[in-house]
Amino acid sequence: MSGSAIPGTTPAPAASAETAPERRAERGAWWRGAAIYQVYLRSFADGNGDGIGDLAGLRARLPYLAELGADAIWLNPWYPSPMADGGYDVADYRDIDPVFGTLAEAEKLIEEAHSLGIRTIIDIVPNHGSVEQEWFVRALAAGPGSPERERFWFRDGRGDLPPNDWRSIFGGPAWTRVPDGQWYLHLFDPGQPDFNWDDPEVAAEFHDVLRFWLARGVDGIRIDSAALIVKDFDSPTGADGDLDGVHEIYRGWRRITDSYEGRILIGEVWLPDQERFARYLRPDEMHTAFNFDFLGRAWDPRELRASIELTLATHVPIGAPPTWVLSNHDVPRPVTRYGRQVTSFSHADRRDGVPSDPVLGERRARAAALLALALPGSAYVYQGEELGLPEVDDIPGELRQDPIWTRSGHTVPGRDGCRVPLPWSGQEPPFGFGTGKPWLPQPASWKDLTAEAQAADPGSMLSLYRQALRIRRAELGDGVLRWLEAGEDVLAFTRESGLTCVVNLGPDPVRLPPHGAVLLASGPLDGDRLPADTAVWLRTG
Ligand code: NOJ
Ligand code: CA
Repeated sequence: MSGSAIPGTTPAPAASAETAPERRAERGAWWRGAAIYQVYLRSFADGNGDGIGDLAGLRARLPYLAELGADAIWLNPWYPSPMADGGYDVADYRDIDPVFGTLAEAEKLIEEAHSLGIRTIIDIVPNHGSVEQEWFVRALAAGPGSPERERFWFRDGRGDLPPNDWRSIFGGPAWTRVPDGQWYLHLFDPGQPDFNWDDPEVAAEFHDVLRFWLARGVDGIRIDSAALIVKDFDSPTGADGDLDGVHEIYRGWRRITDSYEGRILIGEVWLPDQERFARYLRPDEMHTAFNFDFLGRAWDPRELRASIELTLATHVPIGAPPTWVLSNHDVPRPVTRYGRQVTSFSHADRRDGVPSDPVLGERRARAAALLALALPGSAYVYQGEELGLPEVDDIPGELRQDPIWTRSGHTVPGRDGCRVPLPWSGQEPPFGFGTGKPWLPQPASWKDLTAEAQAADPGSMLSLYRQALRIRRAELGDGVLRWLEAGEDVLAFTRESGLTCVVNLGPDPVRLPPHGAVLLASGPLDGDRLPADTAVWLRTG
């Protein structure tokens, strides 16, 4: 088959709009087009040999992130925690877990990252704390009816039944009974009691926590489970999130953030309704929010184009930059996801165990990277994505740590498979991750995927990400795109700088536009044709 040609010259209407007036001051701000690298600290690099990643390990590897081209790092929670949910059960919002290091080391990390031009974003968890947090310990001791219990959702049960039928997102009831007979609410694990945001002390406490970290130089705050924090006990859907009261809370956060220069709020907002989603991005609320629609779509030209258009249609009119996410610590790795012949993917339906073709998956993940990194807005890269790591699906049950595994009665494996410690160098585990035994086992086959092996190979995933991020920093990021008319299996668009991205999602090769110089390709080209599942960046302008 000769394949269909891409005219490349007939521009479709631009998906652009004038920046909304109230956003003008933000034009050119660092975060609008940043490439943000997500560090899952436990699995990044181990500096002291105990098999768990830590701040010493991260600090030693900052030059790798600078070379990769990260504008910022986002770290998952690093606070003292019993680790019922990988640190998303925070026992002290103003300190660092000793397994990761000390507060002084965190301050050094922020400073050293800044000296390399890398900003630091931390994770704040306002929906819930930990059973080991002082407030909760005091609430348990103080007993029913006490002001200490008002900071949480303590209720009497219905006889031996929980106070209502709300379910935990991790499976099972959302209520756990305490020895005096009352129950407390936890939308996630029982180790994560939900705060009661109707209590003014809760708001005041988090304002103070924000100031604590902003004063230490963090550049951004990622807000965990942001839409869930307000509840309505009297409504059957009162725990489903997105109640109107959340917005006033984030306006308060925004006022604090704005009192420091250049700092941002990023919401973790999983909402299918785009109009509701956009409300979080009003000029006096969050700066950006994760766009999860894109990562949920199948490798299909109609699906992906629909997602991009939906995302731009949501963001452009309000002048907020979209975000693009291919992976994070909660979802299966892209190489594995795109190697599966499935139509779509949702957070609740991970499709674990569905067979995946690794060769196809890698090919598509490479093309997906060039697509995502060319789109207008900021982009996230989850550690190991740049190495093309696959999901690890054969972790022995007894080593799994995700509460989803236990709470599902060992039926849903959960998220450990995308959290396996990174392979840095060498021929066998621990692959330079540290000197001790990694907290989750690394596959022996990762010897070919180490950062060291890939750095030496111009055709590797790491080399592709390095080149893409370099070009992106110079001429992509914030802005608009203009769709080009292309075959129905092809996505093609041009950015302001004249860079054109063409992705072939169909089965047959397609002819490239005649006047473009190839800047970067996700795989070998076939003469002037772009093979299936391949993306290319061209200089056309
Ligand atoms: C979202 C985080 O990304 C996830 O890892 C965590 O389990 C839940 N929030 C609960 O904090
Ligand atoms: Ca360690």
